[in-house]
Amino acid sequence: MKLTDLFFLMFSIIALIQDAKAINRNIPSLVANKNALIEAQYQKSIQLLFHNLSPYDGLKGAIVASPSNGNPNYYFNWVRDAALTTESLIAVYNATTSRNTYLRSSIKSFLLDFINFNVQIQKDSLLHAGLGEPRFLVDGRTDTLPWGRPQNDGPALRSAVNIEILFLASKENWPEFEPLLKKLYDPNTNNVSLVKSDLEYVAHYWMNPTIDLWEEFYGYHFYTLMTQRKSLYYGAALANVLKDTESSNFYLNELKKAENRLQSFWNPNINYILASFYANQSPFVESSAKKKSRVVNKSQLDIAVLLGVLHAEVNQLSFSISDPRVFSSYLTLKRMFSQIYSINNESSLNTAFGRYPEDTYDGYSPNSRGNPWILTTAAAAEYNYRLALDYLNNQKILINFANVNYFSSVVKFQLIEGQTISVSQPEFKLIINSLINEGDLYMLRILYHANPDGSLSEQYNRENGYMQGAPHLTWSYAAYITAKIKRDQVIARVSNRKNL
Ligand code: NOJ
Ligand code: NOJ
Repeated sequence: MKLTDLFFLMFSIIALIQDAKAINRNIPSLVANKNALIEAQYQKSIQLLFHNLSPYDGLKGAIVASPSNGNPNYYFNWVRDAALTTESLIAVYNATTSRNTYLRSSIKSFLLDFINFNVQIQKDSLLHAGLGEPRFLVDGRTDTLPWGRPQNDGPALRSAVNIEILFLASKENWPEFEPLLKKLYDPNTNNVSLVKSDLEYVAHYWMNPTIDLWEEFYGYHFYTLMTQRKSLYYGAALANVLKDTESSNFYLNELKKAENRLQSFWNPNINYILASFYANQSPFVESSAKKKSRVVNKSQLDIAVLLGVLHAEVNQLSFSISDPRVFSSYLTLKRMFSQIYSINNESSLNTAFGRYPEDTYDGYSPNSRGNPWILTTAAAAEYNYRLALDYLNNQKILINFANVNYFSSVVKFQLIEGQTISVSQPEFKLIINSLINEGDLYMLRILYHANPDGSLSEQYNRENGYMQGAPHLTWSYAAYITAKIKRDQVIARVSNRKNL
């Protein structure tokens, strides 16, 4: 028996013990047992996520978006889903304290396989549509079916996560570090190397239109641009350390332009960040080109914006977790979703979040009605935990146009814009606890709709709450996992403080 098999076996045994109490659709008892239940779903999600890594009929390092190979067929390695999944595995690795667990070594060996698989698909994509190619077969071949191309968030997310692996390898002195660095970053741009080639692609093409993360529309997207900014930021830092100074300056320069363009997505008249501009509405293209493209009527109110912040915020730059424009967009999204899905009438749980109000994809057919999703509900939870963490790190809360009314109702008196709440005030504690509780009520929403065995699909029905769409969606597990890790962090911070 291999070590990894033993690890799976141990996990299944734990899961068997937990299954009996994992699902509990009785809301008061969900609330009463929330710590244990949120933890059990975390363990279960890690175990189920592992089933989608390195599938038996593919190459090691591939990740299927879902094991479902028909209705819908998600049996592909999407570059975006795979990068986000790998990010969540790094988070698990870092959150698992003891250095010698099977979990940590399984993750580490997967990270190395992930890199090898991506070296392979990156090379293959260059023989086809190029680095914006969104998905691949598990045997490493490029998918050549008609599909939305390019999806330029792919190379951006992938370069960022690979740089994170490099940083980890260097921090922990992995023996693999030197060969890894050689493989990932060749400063000679005539050669193909995984990170460097992705970075060059991002730096040269970030200003071009692309298909969005939902694979539906060609245009300019906040989400994609956020991921590109993060890639350029990490890339500039890496190039600088490696004394590839000219590239480092080039990436920084492009980053400044991308940062600048991001600002156009904020619409102060409606108080939310717009998800996309289509060519016909875009401030970035000439008016002659605008006339040729079709007009699309969409509110542009889309969880993609919050995902962009969660996946790609860069500390010190705009659209960070505590940017008031992000809070305002979050509240607008929450209000909208609570009105459109009837399951949200169950008000003791938090709002079920979907993608955007005009969504017509029900997980099987594109011409139906959209539903709430697991990964977007988990995103709402994670946002609340991370906002609380930010306030704890800063030791203060700034009251601004976006949060003034919301936090006033939490502390039960009228706060004023421009006011600062310091860590020593009782209101500070009230707000932190309320953010954590909000996050928990999103997590309980997920537990409430999860399958009895703890498995998670892509969506849950807007009227009856049952799971639907791709079963065992890898990204659902990844999103639950990253939210849970932030919850642990914020709770640890709060319980370490005497005054909180
Ligand atoms: C599958 C895509 O991945 C999904 O995001 C989209 O909504 C549907 N196709 C319909 O276009
Ligand atoms: C549909 C989602 O819209 C897209 O973002 C995702 O990459 C694919 N499904 C695969 O999970």
